Amino acid sequence: MTKPSILIARAISPSVVAFLQRHFVVTVNESDEVWSPETLTAQLQGKDGVLTTGSERIDAALLAACPQLKVVANMAVGYNNFDVAAMEQAGVQGTNSPDVLTETTADFGFALLMATARRITESEHYLRAGKWTKWSYEMFSGAEVHGSTLGIIGMGRIGQGIAKRGAHGFGMQVIYHNRSQLSPELEAECKARYVSQQELLQTADHVVLVLPYTPENRHTIGAAELALMKPTATLINIARGGIVDDAALAQALKEQRIAAAGLDVFEGEPKVHPDLLTVPNVVLTPHIASATAGTRIKMAQMAADNLVAVLGRKAALTAVNTPDAAAQAKRWAV
Ligand code: GLV
Repeated sequence: MTKPSILIARAISPSVVAFLQRHFVVTVNESDEVWSPETLTAQLQGKDGVLTTGSERIDAALLAACPQLKVVANMAVGYNNFDVAAMEQAGVQGTNSPDVLTETTADFGFALLMATARRITESEHYLRAGKWTKWSYEMFSGAEVHGSTLGIIGMGRIGQGIAKRGAHGFGMQVIYHNRSQLSPELEAECKARYVSQQELLQTADHVVLVLPYTPENRHTIGAAELALMKPTATLINIARGGIVDDAALAQALKEQRIAAAGLDVFEGEPKVHPDLLTVPNVVLTPHIASATAGTRIKMAQMAADNLVAVLGRKAALTAVNTPDAAAQAKRWAV
């Protein structure tokens, strides 16, 4: 039996490539360039599966032009790069990589919160610029973290991880808002209290965004929501670009209507709103919340395991959609 053919759309760990080569005929994007939709489509000709990252857009046009493609395995928990409805209709299985990155990403959310509240990057820039000539009483006075109120919007696995770090490690009062309220057991574990989004924005000292991106969630935090926040509050976004209106946030930071922000994700990334690059009270990182060597390998391996399962005609391990059966059968017949 001939081996199925797959594409690895970006450069990943050699050990996971070697694993995939045992199962498939593998093409790797060694250059690690983010391909245009046209190049990606051309590279996908004759491929049964593809391992993607959040940078590759999978939509109806691409799927129609790749009739043999059966599975797209995203190496990310978020999959807003997928047009899920189009994939469903086209009979293509989508998968993601949840769980393996939860604790690593929650660590990073907390690191960004700490760096933002305590002005770590701002003060480092000051020191590196040679401006530190003497100690002074109010120098880089930041916001308290321990004992403060932590507001989490989006209380999935990562949100719960951040809640536990805040409640148990830093004695924070944790409030959260989510599409649905957690079970009493989970609320007790996270020491978290469910509130409306408005109450959360008005009360929290630190607001952390960890909700998935959907078109309905676009600009969950815009000018009106920023106006509800305390002038001393910080905003942390480790969710997705587009959940925050970055232009409105830059304006609020410039006018010091909130104290500071920590951002790992941006609207239109890797481009960053130019005003965010010039305001001092923001910590900026290039979408690295899950970036540890161990977690990256686990994410890539999970995507690889999904490819092996689906192309071996077994159920996906972490499916994000249910492909239309008739359309799927056509793809297997190509
Ligand atoms: C990263 O942003 C992910 O969704 O895994």
